[in-house]
Parts: sequence; structure tokens; C-alpha cells
Amino acid sequence: MENEVKLAAGAMVALAVATAALVVLPYMQVRDIPKPPALKPYTSAQLRGREVYISNGCVYCHSQQPRARSFGPDFERGWGRASVPGDYFYDRPHLLGSMRTGPDLFNIGARQPSKDWHLGHLYQPRAYSPGSNMPSYPFLFDVKDAAEDGEEVLTLPPGYAPYGRVVVPRPEALDLVKYLQALNHTYPVLPPLPTPAPDVKVQPKAETAAPKS
Ligand code: HEC
Repeated sequence: MENEVKLAAGAMVALAVATAALVVLPYMQVRDIPKPPALKPYTSAQLRGREVYISNGCVYCHSQQPRARSFGPDFERGWGRASVPGDYFYDRPHLLGSMRTGPDLFNIGARQPSKDWHLGHLYQPRAYSPGSNMPSYPFLFDVKDAAEDGEEVLTLPPGYAPYGRVVVPRPEALDLVKYLQALNHTYPVLPPLPTPAPDVKVQPKAETAAPKS
């Protein structure tokens, strides 16, 4: 019996230490991070687009976390500066992603602002990137004989439009593209101020204002 008690106690301690190190500490580190002044909240359409992004599994092939220049060539690939915790202020749940079958999309709105390109690429990625292994999303579009009033028609590269018919984006496709266009975190951010340990007294210098904390 004694061994079982030790085993159970050991398991609980191990679990508590792991939870503290991997859940509680990181939470305390980032919970009060302020948002960068230039970061805008999502509009309703962009939030709906975000849901489409989640439900179609885009996150399984696309990350949203460019790495620091010392960690990899993300900046050289044109994916932008390394992301900071504040960039994710409005992201619930965050869509960091862990797979990069396709490029990082954290700044796709800056890299590719064209709505027509995004719509066409979602309808048929291979029309824009020959050999692309991104799935096409034809169910986000309607193929019909003629567009109705107020509907926009996709202009696809020659050979990719269905013969004699038109391709019209559904509201889900339009929302998704609004979300992709909003993925633009190219504003500058300052590195976070180092937080001194509680017992260390920081002498404020006369010429620089001491950070309030
Ligand atoms: C099976 C993996 C896979 C999935 C799932 C996937 N993609 Fe892609 N995506 C890729 C690959 C590979 C590329 C690069 C080739 C290309 O441009 O098509 C790409 C490219 C892109 C690009 C252009 C990026 C650039 O830098 O030019 C965008 C935008 C994009 N994907 C959006 C999406 C969205 C939105 C979804 C979900 C609806 C999605 N992808 C789902 C693999 C994927």
C-alpha cells in the first residue's frame, strides 16, 4: 500500500510541476501584455471569415508566427518581422499553427492585398501557383449560367473558368478573403521592457523616465 501512495503522490507532484511550468507560468507572463497601438480589432465580416478559416482547416497547412531572424529565414522569405505576444491580442483562439505545408500567412494581407487574386486562388490554387498542392475550395463558390444583380463574377486565368458559365463567390468566400486581407502585422513593435525581479531595486536615471510597473 505504501508504494501505491508514493506512486500516486509522485505522479501528482509531476503533474503539478508540469502544469505550473507549461500552463500557469506562461499564462502569467502574457496575460497583461498590452495590444500594439496600430493593431485593429476584427470587423464582424473578418471574424466570420476567421471561422471559415478554422472550419476549413487552413491552420493545418499555414502557420501565423514568423520567426525571429536568428531562428530562420522567415524574414528573408518576405513573411515579416517576428511576431510578439501583443500581435495576438484579438485572437481567440490563436491560430499559430505548427505546419508549414504552405507559407506563413501572418502578413498575407500586406504581401497579397488583391481580393480577386485571393478569390481565384481559393477557387483553384493551381491557376495561380502551378503545381500547388493546396486543396481547391469550390464549395465556397457558385457556378451558374449568369450572375444576378449585385453579384460579382470571378475573373479566372484563361482555361480555368467553366465554359459558358460564371463563378460567383459565396458570402463565406468573401468573408474569408476579408480576413486574409486583414492579416497585416507589419506595423513596428518595440521589444517588451525587461521586468526586474521583485527584490531588485532599479535606480531610475535622471534623464530617462522610469517605466511604471
Ligand atoms: C494541404 C495544405 C493546405 C491547406 C489545407 C491550405 N493551404 Fe493554402 N497553401 C498551401 C500551399 C502548398 C501553398 C503555396 C502554393 C500556392 O500558392 O498555392 C499555399 C498558399 C496559400 C496562399 C498564398 C500564400 C502566399 O504567400 O502567396 C494563401 C493566401 C493561402 N494558401 C490560403 C489558404 C486558406 C485561406 C486555406 C483554407 C481555406 C488554405 N490556404 C488551406 C497549402 C495549403
